[in-house]
Amino acid sequence: MNKTTIIEAKQCVGQQVTIGGWLNNKRSSGKIAFLQLRDGTGFIQGVVVKATDEEMFQKAKSLTQETSLYVQGLVKEDDRSPLGIELEVTGIEVIHEAVDYPITPKEHGTEFLMDHRHIWLRSKRQHAIMKIRNEIIRATFAFFQDRHFVKVDAPILTSTSAEGTTELFHTKYFDEDAYLSQSGQLYMEAAAMALGKVFSFGPTFRAEKSKTRRHLIEFWMIEPEMAFCTHEESLEVQETYVTSIVQAVLDNCQIELETLGRDTDVLEKIKAPFPRITYTDALALLHEKGFSDISWGDDFGAPHETAIAEAFDKPVFITHYPTSLKAFYMKPDPTNPDVVECADLIAPEGYGEIIGGSARIDDLALMEERYKEHGLDHESYSWYLDLRKYGSVPHAGFGLGLERTVAWISGTEHVRETIPFPRLLNRLTP
Ligand code: 4AD
Ligand code: MG
Repeated sequence: MNKTTIIEAKQCVGQQVTIGGWLNNKRSSGKIAFLQLRDGTGFIQGVVVKATDEEMFQKAKSLTQETSLYVQGLVKEDDRSPLGIELEVTGIEVIHEAVDYPITPKEHGTEFLMDHRHIWLRSKRQHAIMKIRNEIIRATFAFFQDRHFVKVDAPILTSTSAEGTTELFHTKYFDEDAYLSQSGQLYMEAAAMALGKVFSFGPTFRAEKSKTRRHLIEFWMIEPEMAFCTHEESLEVQETYVTSIVQAVLDNCQIELETLGRDTDVLEKIKAPFPRITYTDALALLHEKGFSDISWGDDFGAPHETAIAEAFDKPVFITHYPTSLKAFYMKPDPTNPDVVECADLIAPEGYGEIIGGSARIDDLALMEERYKEHGLDHESYSWYLDLRKYGSVPHAGFGLGLERTVAWISGTEHVRETIPFPRLLNRLTP
C-alpha cells in the first residue's frame, strides 16, 4: 500500500493509497458519508458509499472530530475540491479516538480560542495563516540568499538596547543585568562590516503596554543590513523584497488565500516601485484631511498612518522623520539635519507600519555626540563605536515585522493569529 500525504496524493490519481490524518469534519446523508480529512499538508474529502460497504459506512458515521486515523482509498480526480482530488475510501483504521473535542464547528469567542491556541492551530483558517507565514519566511531566505546576503544570527540576551524607544525585558545574567533583544540591528551592522550584506531572522521582545491589533510582546523580525548602501538604495531593496514575498504568496498559497477569503486583486497591485512621501508632506496631507491635532515634531499614531496609507493603493514609504522622533543611530539628512534619512513602510488597508529602516551614522565624532545626547553608556556600547573607527562605510538597513506582514498579506485582522503562540499583554500561555 502506497503511504502518502494529502498534498502528494495529487500525483497518485488512479492509485490506492494510505494517508495518516485527522478527521476535521464530517457530513452524511442516508447514503453517503463525507469525511473531511486533514494531515497538515492539506485537506481532502473522503467518500464512503453505504451501498458499496455498509459496515464502513457505519464506522465512518461514528467517527468523532479530531480522531486520528489511517485511511485507505482510491485517489480520484475532482474538480470541485481545492486540490483537485478526493478519496474513495476503502479502509479506516482508527489510531486514537478524540472524545469531546472542545473546538466544535460553531462560533467561539476570542478568549476561548486563545486559551485553546495549541489545538486551535488545527483549524482550516489557522492552518492557512501558518502556511502563508511559512511561505513568507521561505521567500525571504530565497530573496536575500539569491542576492548574496548572508544569514547571521543576532544574540537574544544583550547588555544594550537597540531602539531605546520601547520598554525592555530585564533579566539577570549571573551577576550582571541583561535584556531580551528588541532588535538585532546593532549586531547586524557589525556583521555587515564583516560580510557585506547580511540579514537576521529572529524573535524580538518589547515590554510595551500596547493592546492593539498590531502589537505583540514577542515578535519576529527580518533585519537586513548592507555595507556601501545609501538610504535610497535601501528603499529599492525594501520595495523589491516586499514585492517578491507578496508574489510568492500569490503563486504558492492560492488555496490558503481562498480559504481566508483574501481579495487577491489588491495584492496583484503590489509591485515596486512604491510611493514615497516625506514626513513633512505627510503632515500637510493629514492637515488637508482635517487632522488638526498634530503638528511638526509629533509622531504619527495608527489613525494618522491609516489616513496616509488610504491615499495610495500600494505600501507607502514615509521618509525623513524629525531627528528627535527617531533612534540615536539614524543618519541626519545632509541638506537638513533636523530630519533623518529614514523610512517607515506603511501597508495598505490599515495594517500599519511593516518596516522601519534608515541609513546609519558612519561618522565617529557624530556618533560620539549622539552617545552624549542619549546618555548611552560607553562601556556596553564601545564595540558599536569601533565600527566607526576601523574602516567605517556608509551603510543602511531595515527591519520588517513578520507578523504584521503576514496579517496584511493574509488579510488577518489581528496579529495574534499570525504567530503560532502569541505573547500578548495578558497572555503567556499556552
Ligand atoms: O520600527 P522598529 O522598531 O525598527 C527597529 O527595530 C530597527 N532596529 C530595525 C532595523 O532597522 N534593523 O521595528 C521594525 C518593525 C516595525 O516596522 C513593525 O513591523 C515591527 O517591527 N514591530 C512590531 N510587530 C509586532 N509587535 C510589535 N510590538 C512591534 N514593534 C515593531
Ligand atoms: Mg518603527
